[in-house]
Parts: sequence; C-alpha cells; structure tokens
Amino acid sequence: MKKLLVTGGAGFIGANFVHYWMKKYPKDKVVVIDALTYAGNFSNLASVQNNENFNFVHGDICDQPLVESLLTEHDIDTLVHFAAESHVDRSITGPDAFIETNIMGTYSLLKAAKIVWLDSVQADNEQPKNHRFHHVSTDEVYGTLSATDPAFTEETAYAPNSPYSASKAASDHLVRAYHHTYGLNVTTSNCSNNYGPYHFPEKLIPLVITNILHEKSLPIYGDGQQIRDWLYVEDHAYGIDLVLNKGRIGENYNIGGNNEWANIDIVKEISLLVEQEFQKDSNLAKRFPKALSAIAQNTKSLITYVQDRPGHDRRYAIDATKTNNELGYQPKESFKTGIAKTVQWYLNNENWWQSVMDGSYQDWIKSQYSN
Ligand code: NAD
Ligand code: DAU
Repeated sequence: MKKLLVTGGAGFIGANFVHYWMKKYPKDKVVVIDALTYAGNFSNLASVQNNENFNFVHGDICDQPLVESLLTEHDIDTLVHFAAESHVDRSITGPDAFIETNIMGTYSLLKAAKIVWLDSVQADNEQPKNHRFHHVSTDEVYGTLSATDPAFTEETAYAPNSPYSASKAASDHLVRAYHHTYGLNVTTSNCSNNYGPYHFPEKLIPLVITNILHEKSLPIYGDGQQIRDWLYVEDHAYGIDLVLNKGRIGENYNIGGNNEWANIDIVKEISLLVEQEFQKDSNLAKRFPKALSAIAQNTKSLITYVQDRPGHDRRYAIDATKTNNELGYQPKESFKTGIAKTVQWYLNNENWWQSVMDGSYQDWIKSQYSN
C-alpha cells in the first residue's frame, strides 16, 4: 500500500491521475497539495472528495515547511509532482511565475524530500525508508524537430525554446542532481501533449471544442502546420503508474501517443466530430443554438489564421521504445476513441467549462478566505 503526495492534483493531468489511481488502488492514501491557481479547480476532484483515503491541502509547493510537514504527518512514501505553470503562451507574456513554481517549487520539494526521507533517518543511523520522487515533465525540453528528424529519445540533448520549457528543463536537471548527489530515489517521465476531460480551455483541443459551441473563431497560429503527438490523459496516468511500479531509479522515461497531427488537421477533425454529434443528437442544437448556426454554415468556416506564437516549436514526436520495452507500456486508447470520448465529455459537462469561463470555478477557494 502506497501513501502518495500528489502536487498539482487539482489541475488537468493531476486530477485525472488522482481519479485513475484511487480507482485502481483504492486502499492507497492520496494527499493532494495544490495552490489552486487559475489552472487549479477544486471541482475536478469532486468524485474523490469524500473518500476517507483522500486529503486535500490548499498550499504552495514553494512552502517547504508545509511540504515537510505533509511528508512526515502522512508518512508519505511516494511524491508525484505535477504542479507547474503549464501554458506556453502565458510563459511568453509572463515568465516569472514559471521560474517561481517550476524551478523554485521543484527545488523546494526536493529539499523537503531530502530532509524527511534521507537526512532525518541518517541522523538516527537508520536506513533511508523506501521512497520515490516522481517528476512529471514534458517532451518540450528536447526542443523542436524538423519534419524528417527522428523522434525524441531519452538520449536527445535538452534544447528548450520557451520560458516554459526552459523552466521544466531546469527542474528536470535539479531532480537528476538530487539523485546523483544525495541518493534521492527519483524518476522522471517526459510526456507528449495530453488531451481529455478537465483540460483547461486555453489549450488547443478544449479551446476549439468550446469555441465551436459558442460560434467563436478557431485561432490557428501561423500556418497551422506545427505537429504535436497527442496522448489521451488516462494513458499518461497509466505510464506514470508503470514508472512508479517498475521504473528504475534515476531514469527518465518518454511517454507518447505515437500519434502526430498537424494543428490545422486536428482542428478540422474536431470540427467534423462536433458536426457529427449534432447530426446524431437533435437536442444539442437546442442546448447550443449558436453552434447550430455555425454548423449550418460549416464549422470549418470558423477557422482563422492568426499571428504565430513567438519561437513556436515546429514539431514534437516521442520515441517511447525504452518505456515500451522496459515497462511494457502501450497507450490503451486510440486517437479515434480518445478524441470521441473527449468531445462527448465537453458536450456532457457544459457546467464545468462554463464555470471556468465565467470564473465561478474559483468560488470554493474564495469562500475559504471570506470572513
Ligand atoms: P495544469 O496547468 O492544468 O495544472 C497545474 C496545477 O498545478 C494546477 O492545479 C495549479 O493550481 C497547480 N499549481 C500551480 N502552481 C502551484 C504551486 N506553486 N503550488 C501548488 N500547486 C500549484 O497543468 P497540466 O496540464 O495538468 O500539467 C501537469 C504537469 O504535467 C506539469 O508539470 C506539466 O509540465 C506536465 N505536462 C503537461 C502536458 C500537457 O499536455 N498538459 C504534457 C506533458 C507534461
Ligand atoms: O508537449 C507537451 C506540452 O503540451 C506540455 O508540456 C504543455 O504543458 C502543454 O500546454 C502542451 O503545450 P503546447 O504548446 O503544445 O499546447 P497548446 O495546446 O498550447 O498548443 C498546441 C498547438 O496548437 C501548438 O502548436 C500551438 C497551437 N495553438 C494553440 C492555441 C492555444 C494554436 O494554433 N492556436 C491556439 O489558440
């Protein structure tokens, strides 16, 4: 039985990971620490909030004493680190928060883990207890590929191009150094673009789905030929599960979907899927009357080419051979089934994304601090 501290568990991937883990390992204890920034949403964890094996702590990973106390009080043996500023566009307009959370926050967690898991036991002449620090990173640390370059392996040199990816690369290096220098039991996974439920609608796929339903334009940066490798979010959770249970200490593991799409093609595909849903279910036209008119005019007409993202990476692609061979990893969801589930989830969970758009998703956190 494991006792997990999950950082950033109220965000997109963290919340999906918590759902995955608590379903698969119902006896494990899970503590989430999350600062509930704009990207954190307490309601993402609604289905586990009353589970006696679950605890939520509203806190910042930069608060090292708080993290130390959580590791000690809950006797944590496994820390899974998702908390980050994660949106590339925001890192371009405001890098400070990325440096603070992604670099300093990771450093704070490493210091806390070293004190609780290594230093305190060594002072008592005890063997270090079983522990694991798993760091969730990204393929963006490897930089960009041309159309013909081979996909990123774990041996690809780091070459981050945005403040976001540079901050993630720095955190990856700190995690590595805490293993090599102090013997902390770390693993790192570098994953490609995720999609699925609870994806914040500033990112491409949920933005496109929700904009179609509001008959808003679908912004395509530059020529739309940039390529991303898309993975259903539950398959990311599954990959982390395998790394935690079978991965070798001190190693990095690439996780990817083997599913490369140009941005313009994925936007056209989603437009088509939403149109098909409207054709199948006449009720949708009543619920989303604006989208109905968009469909009458052809959803693709909403596509609008806009100014490119500065420094926009052209292509990401993951070679997950090591993870496949060593851990037996293969994504379970095909893109066809994953994207269909995702479109359905957004059609069925209008309250969730409307509350994100009108800001009421942060009411819970505001209520905690009103007198
Ligand atoms: P997200 O932005 O949806 O969620 C981040 C979460 O971290 C939020 O709940 C936020 O409140 C919390 N957080 C932010 N700063 C914090 C702080 N200082 N202290 C405590 N909590 C804080 O991000 P995501 O898309 O779920 O990504 C999770 C992790 O996975 C990140 O580390 C990201 O770099 C990595 N990743 C993401 C993708 C992707 O496609 N989204 C792909 C590969 C790797
Ligand atoms: O590769 C993993 C990374 O994937 C993660 O590390 C990041 O946290 C995550 O945000 C994601 O980064 P991207 O920049 O690839 O994701 P985003 O959804 O922002 O954009 C996907 C592609 O679509 C990218 O090429 C930019 C483009 N785009 C994005 C938006 C929001 C558009 O063309 N129009 C848009 O409006």
